[in-house]
Amino acid sequence: MRLRGAPALLAGLLWIAPAFAQTAFTPRDESPEEFVAGPGRDETFYTCTACHGFKLVAAQGLTRAQWEDSINLMIRRHNMPPLEDKDRAVVLGYLETAYPPRAPAGRGGWQNPFAK
Ligand code: HEC
Repeated sequence: MRLRGAPALLAGLLWIAPAFAQTAFTPRDESPEEFVAGPGRDETFYTCTACHGFKLVAAQGLTRAQWEDSINLMIRRHNMPPLEDKDRAVVLGYLETAYPPRAPAGRGGWQNPFAK
């Protein structure tokens, strides 16, 4: 019998399919209010969530120059439509203020829970 493996294969596919459906991002999973408040937050949120979750963005802590690079990368590699200068300034202003490089230690940084 040549098709002996077919039922198992089909079962495997049916089992995997919902897992893929689950990972597809829908903007409704997040809302701008969940993220650091500040001027330009909504604009930035909707600009970036056209393609992926904002958590991916909020997880970074970058300088303005690094945020520039990040946006350029989105444009170059991921076909993001280039922003107009005015919008770009708004988005960069928000990202720079809300998600700056994290302090390596001390307040806001990682704290050793056993050091108290
Ligand atoms: C046209 C689609 C698109 C838009 C719009 C977009 N991105 Fe991305 N971005 C991607 C893709 C594709 C990836 C890589 C796949 C992934 O990790 O989800 C990615 C990944 C990232 C990463 C992960 C690190 C990396 O370098 O791969 C960061 C940070 C990021 N994007 C920032 C942004 C910011 C900030 C914005 C809004 C200014 C934005 N993206 C808008 C498509 C986009």
